[in-house]
Amino acid sequence: MMDDLAGALRAPWMAAVCSCLVGILSCAAPAAETRPSEPVQPSEASPSAAPVAPAPQLEPKRAMMKAIRIHAVGDADVMQQEEIPRPEPKAGELLVRVIAAGVNPVDAKMRQATRKDLRALMESRLPFVLGLDVAGVVTQVGEGVSRFKQGDAVYAFLDQARGGGYAEYAIVKEGEAALKPASLSFKEAAAVPLAGLTAWQGLFETASLEKGQTVLIQGASGGVGVFAVQLAKARGARVLATASTRNQELLRELGADLAIDYTRTSFDRVVRNVDVVLDNVGGDTTKRSIDVVRRGGFLATLLEAPDAEALKKRGIQGARVQAHPDAATLEKMTALIEEKKVRPLVSETLPLSEVRTAHEMIATRHTRGKIVLVVAEEP
Ligand SMILES: NC(=O)c1ccc[n+]([C@@H]2O[C@H](COP(=O)([O-])OP(=O)(O)OC[C@H]3O[C@@H](n4cnc5c(N)ncnc54)[C@H](OP(=O)(O)O)[C@@H]3O)[C@@H](O)[C@H]2O)c1
Repeated sequence: MMDDLAGALRAPWMAAVCSCLVGILSCAAPAAETRPSEPVQPSEASPSAAPVAPAPQLEPKRAMMKAIRIHAVGDADVMQQEEIPRPEPKAGELLVRVIAAGVNPVDAKMRQATRKDLRALMESRLPFVLGLDVAGVVTQVGEGVSRFKQGDAVYAFLDQARGGGYAEYAIVKEGEAALKPASLSFKEAAAVPLAGLTAWQGLFETASLEKGQTVLIQGASGGVGVFAVQLAKARGARVLATASTRNQELLRELGADLAIDYTRTSFDRVVRNVDVVLDNVGGDTTKRSIDVVRRGGFLATLLEAPDAEALKKRGIQGARVQAHPDAATLEKMTALIEEKKVRPLVSETLPLSEVRTAHEMIATRHTRGKIVLVVAEEP
């Protein structure tokens, strides 16, 4: 999902985020360690020698933490578990003790940065702590924070330009976080923010899906799709959903009115004139999705933007979703989760040290629901 990053580059919030990047990343760089020196004693040879020089001001030794950090873009080997200084929250920020961190396809894409422009962007941010989804406990609040206090259980979608989730402690901006749903464990909560907000923003903000409309969700068994099916149902839409054979039952359990096995049936043979398509797959699926949208309908894509000419020809609208942190929407997700209308699906949990395995799995593009890294025991 280099495309996610390309979107991030174009997004208006990017400039603001970039301006604060330097500070945050320099904060993540190993600080020179200051060792307390021995107190100066008057020499025995000259008991009443010259006045003793004042002891140098000692900087307190910074607390350290484990984090998965990259010093170069590349394959899974570039991910190293390191001891680095624990960041400190600035105004408007929280320091969160991370219990669990969600894994998203974009994490692997940021690490690989195969596209030239994105490689340059990532390289300008190195060293970089990966990870955009966290659930944990607030341990410190920066100046001006009003919605959270020490001890609160929270979850958050961290800005792509900053990352920092694969670590024992993460900086979370107040506007990225919401209180963790009480009904979810931290592992489950870490699966929600990025994928849940992407589904919400794609369906309701980009495509303006309304009650009573019909939506086709492509790639409905993955991280974003699992939320999209449930959110669309909760809004009162009719939901058609695609996935492979092994996920057909799952689609029905999530609430899909029609589950389509893309390995056996071409979706464009059974779907016609839907109001909205949310395409989590890309490529040929995006191209073919244009033909199943009714005139005046909407095609929202997560990968490449739909072809403008083809949209015009068909008389439909379309756009690429640009997911972004949004605490107010995350609070709405919390409410739906507490009302039991939406539930995350965690198919794998792995310790932080097994991040490579997690990235290998996410790169298959066939994971079910979410993979979550466990950073600490549930409190
Ligand atoms: N633009 C944005 O802001 C944004 C935000 C979030 C994610 N994304 C991107 O969106 C994509 C999806 O994200 P995700 O987290 O949902 O990925 P994911 O967890 O890897 O899920 C992908 C799902 O797609 C299904 N799939 C694969 N090929 C398919 C096909 N031809 N037809 C239908 N379903 C197919 C797979 O199901 P089967 O195993 O059953 O095939 C899998 O469950 C990624 O590329 C991600 O980087 C973009």
